[in-house]
Amino acid sequence: MSGTVTAKGLEVRDLSVRFGDFTAVDNVSFHSAAGEVHFLIGPNGAGKTTCVDAITGLARGTGSVLLDGREILGTPVEKIARMGVGRTFQTASVFEDLSVLQNLDIACGIHRSRWSLFGIRTHVDPRIDEALELTGLGLVANRRAGELSHGQKQWLEIAMLIIQDARALMLDEPVAGMSEEERIATGELLARIRQGRVILVVEHDMDFMRRFASRVTVLNRGTILAEGSVEEIQAHPEVQQIYLGTSPDQLHSEGII
Ligand SMILES: Nc1ncnc2c1ncn2[C@@H]1O[C@H](COP(=O)(O)OP(=O)(O)OP(=O)(O)O)[C@@H](O)[C@H]1O
Ligand SMILES: [Mg+2]
Repeated sequence: MSGTVTAKGLEVRDLSVRFGDFTAVDNVSFHSAAGEVHFLIGPNGAGKTTCVDAITGLARGTGSVLLDGREILGTPVEKIARMGVGRTFQTASVFEDLSVLQNLDIACGIHRSRWSLFGIRTHVDPRIDEALELTGLGLVANRRAGELSHGQKQWLEIAMLIIQDARALMLDEPVAGMSEEERIATGELLARIRQGRVILVVEHDMDFMRRFASRVTVLNRGTILAEGSVEEIQAHPEVQQIYLGTSPDQLHSEGII
């Protein structure tokens, strides 16, 4: 019998990504459990986005990525999405000319109702109601997505992933460009949706990380430097050094020291 135990959630094992001779992600292993809000932090170029690219099938990686024990590495992008791994990008990729509801209709699948795209609605899929409620987008349901604030567009993307039943959500710098109010609302949204889902957040916003992370992994030059609770990460000498080494002013202004 094999001694390897496969954990629930997202299990990244010995993940490496090479671009020619350059190793952007070097033997990275971490586990994101369902119910956690797991932050992946680190300086520019640390390999955070590349990790998410490899997990979601956009970059070719070696090693292993298991979602609830099922291997997803090497699977085509669309299939990984169907297996329950969803992703947002820093620039929201919603359909700007369609309303919030129409965007959510699309997330429900084209089989639902093509007429709804023309504004003719027979019934609302219960998943849409749930997603509107969770994200607080109910008040702007009929507004054109292009008119939404930056924060609301990110929430719409998250709503679309929830409708698609994403079990693991990878959010790349979700609060970049958001107002303070929107950041807090985003953190509260993550706390509402984390139950039963894997949430992996790539962020530079240390204040946001401190407030909402339940677990933190620090990447530096493609390798894991530290992992633990917010308190453990903040007390970690090498993490302090890395941030000190890059920008003491930033470190101070972000409240790390
Ligand atoms: N397609 C690519 N080809 C070559 N090198 C790449 C490619 N994508 C990323 N890299 C390099 O890999 C390294 C990691 O990049 P990555 O975008 O993953 O960093 P990051 O941690 O997300 O940084 P940031 O915080 O600035 O977004 C960088 O040195 C980057 O230049
Ligand atoms: Mg990045």
